[in-house]
Amino acid sequence: MESVDNFKSKFKYYKLNKPKPSLSEVISLVNISNHTDKATNVNPYKVSEDSRTDLLGLRNTKEWELYSFYSHPGLFILKNPFTSLGQRYWIRKCLEKYPRKPNKLNIDIEVLLPDWWAECFDNGACNRPLQKKLRWTTLGYQHNWDTKVYTDDNRSPFPEELAELSDVVAQYVGYTGFRAEAAIVNYYHMDSTLSAHTDHSEVNLEAPLFSFSFGQSAIFLIGGKDKSVEPSAILLDSGDVMIMSKEARLCYHAVPKILPAQTSPWADKEDLNKISYSDANFKYISDKKQLVSDMNKNIDEAVWSPFQDYIQESRINMNVRQVLNERQSSLTDYHFNDT
Ligand code: OGA
Ligand code: MN
Repeated sequence: MESVDNFKSKFKYYKLNKPKPSLSEVISLVNISNHTDKATNVNPYKVSEDSRTDLLGLRNTKEWELYSFYSHPGLFILKNPFTSLGQRYWIRKCLEKYPRKPNKLNIDIEVLLPDWWAECFDNGACNRPLQKKLRWTTLGYQHNWDTKVYTDDNRSPFPEELAELSDVVAQYVGYTGFRAEAAIVNYYHMDSTLSAHTDHSEVNLEAPLFSFSFGQSAIFLIGGKDKSVEPSAILLDSGDVMIMSKEARLCYHAVPKILPAQTSPWADKEDLNKISYSDANFKYISDKKQLVSDMNKNIDEAVWSPFQDYIQESRINMNVRQVLNERQSSLTDYHFNDT
């Protein structure tokens, strides 16, 4: 039986600028009152405070707002829980640190750069064409895009701070056993898109997926298990965290359009307060002093400026997954079978 690709029609509608797509059906959580038939504010699993939020650039969990979607069980959005300083910290990590070797980059097939960000400023001035070439980098278990598999010999340590951030959000939504093991960081420019796909390469498909967005906004489409399901369009703004769990974990999704951000939370000078060394109970982060210093140095506008120039015209998405089952330590560890 031939099925209708309703996903593709919607993708094209939002991607093409002729005619300019109407945004009236795009669910925006900033204007939730216009979309009360589609999304609603919900209570988290855990409302207690988390001692780690401050040092990770997050607001107190008591101020967080979580939303769910009537047509998409298992899909949640945590509306920007980050401080401005926090946004700067994470944007900077994605640009300066995560694209370093041994991580894999889309540009590897063209040129192997040990440190892409440094290379962009090699001649003093900023090399914009090189900046725009980077579309993704992978962290932890590196996904092989050709074979669509994760392999044990393609594994590097997962960044501690991103494991910690993912854990804070996972605890908040009740996934106490979540372990961040692989991530894809996507870099989008104003004309970039991400076509319809499902993420199913992980051994463990019960674990949720956490998706962090920074910079310019995106129209995110999410449909069903096949492409005949007409997708919903959701606006993702800087700082938003999407949680794809349960049924939503295996649904088709895509990014047909990047839109200029309506506000620039990474530039809000009122919200750039220095953080201080505190008694956070970290699970993964070993060097608290380094973290505090990495966070605070971005208050200085001159230091922050090259990252500001980048994010003013781009969007970054950190897409975090657990690959293995709970009691499994590697892909060839079948221990998890004997329950
Ligand atoms: C992905 C993905 C969505 C986004 O990396 O698999 O679906 O919001 N990213 O960029
Ligand atoms: Mn995806």
